[in-house]
Amino acid sequence: MRTSNYNRKFSAFASGVVDRFSQRPTLRPVPEGVRLDGRVCLVTGANRGLGRAVAVDLAKRGGEVLMACRSGHPDAGEEVRRLAGSNAVDMLYVDLADLDSVHALCDRLERERRRVDILVLNAGVMPAKARRSAQGYELMFAVHFLANRVLIDRLLADGMIRPAGPDGETPRIVFIVSETHRAAESIDFGDFGAFTDYGLKDGLKYYALSKLHLCTYAQELSRRLNPEGEVRIAVNSLCPGAVDSDLMREAPWFLKLLLQPAKRLLFAAPDKAVAPVAHACCAEDMGRRSGVYLHLMREKEMSAPAMDASAGARLWRESEALLARHPRGGEGARGFATGESE
Ligand SMILES: NC(=O)c1ccc[n+]([C@@H]2O[C@H](COP(=O)([O-])OP(=O)(O)OC[C@H]3O[C@@H](n4cnc5c(N)ncnc54)[C@H](OP(=O)(O)O)[C@@H]3O)[C@@H](O)[C@H]2O)c1
Repeated sequence: MRTSNYNRKFSAFASGVVDRFSQRPTLRPVPEGVRLDGRVCLVTGANRGLGRAVAVDLAKRGGEVLMACRSGHPDAGEEVRRLAGSNAVDMLYVDLADLDSVHALCDRLERERRRVDILVLNAGVMPAKARRSAQGYELMFAVHFLANRVLIDRLLADGMIRPAGPDGETPRIVFIVSETHRAAESIDFGDFGAFTDYGLKDGLKYYALSKLHLCTYAQELSRRLNPEGEVRIAVNSLCPGAVDSDLMREAPWFLKLLLQPAKRLLFAAPDKAVAPVAHACCAEDMGRRSGVYLHLMREKEMSAPAMDASAGARLWRESEALLARHPRGGEGARGFATGESE
């Protein structure tokens, strides 16, 4: 697996902090008055951190919010309802580290004839060392990439996300990615999906790689859904910058101790970090554009490997082949990469 050197890795990670102070935003926060009445918003990992702040923001704007979460039931939903002053908030169970659970969520949405107008793929994880998903894949590859691919495939195939008609609002798919994707040089298709054991030292390297998968997929999805240039489904991505959240909760105590003061001083509170997500979900022009990447409140290009259309097409094919081993209903080859689940 080819990835970058140590310096590259940490400079990509640190840029989230540095850019927050050194780069002036070029986009204005979406005013509170911009409403989402009548729009259904599904947010993954909405029980804490950035995801919870996103759920509150969207619910405050009148959106009907579906919080797709593994934990926090029902308290996080009640908290979001209270903070947003809205009753249009539901919690749904999903464990994104288990493809069967992703299918079960989609089955439920289909049974309940739900429509999704705005999909925010926020859930993220940073394990202290390599772990396997239920199907045996590396956890971040499974949660950040595979689960999102399955979720989107199903929502599109089952008509829960439908391209905009001539007069309708354009559905939006918003990926929460990370600037750290720049630290990963390329996706190793020779070894695609294979589990690699790693320890604390290499956690960030595999985090960056999983986000490169996600960025590359987001760009490919945008190209495939909008082949003529006319935007029928807006697929946009963003990095929220450094957020004072629980993402590094598995880090060893000495690292946490080291990071704690920096986090409090330099990382943005989730309700402040929500600004680029609100922009992607609500700004009028973002419904007419696709393939956009925001880092904080600035538009940027993703890294060259993420923008590479041939890598995107290959990622699409390879992941399709891999997911064919895990069909809906779980009758496929469980434990493909062997071993225990998370
Ligand atoms: N924090 C940062 O500095 C930073 C910077 C750039 C990008 N991001 C991205 O921002 C997003 C939000 O992260 P955060 O900072 O808000 O972290 P967080 O507080 O740790 O929240 C992560 C969320 O993802 C959920 N999640 C993780 N694994 C899951 C699974 N298997 N199934 C369902 N949900 C799962 C968590 O649920 P549980 O509560 O059940 O674990 C939690 O709700 C992530 O995609 C992250 O990569 C964060």
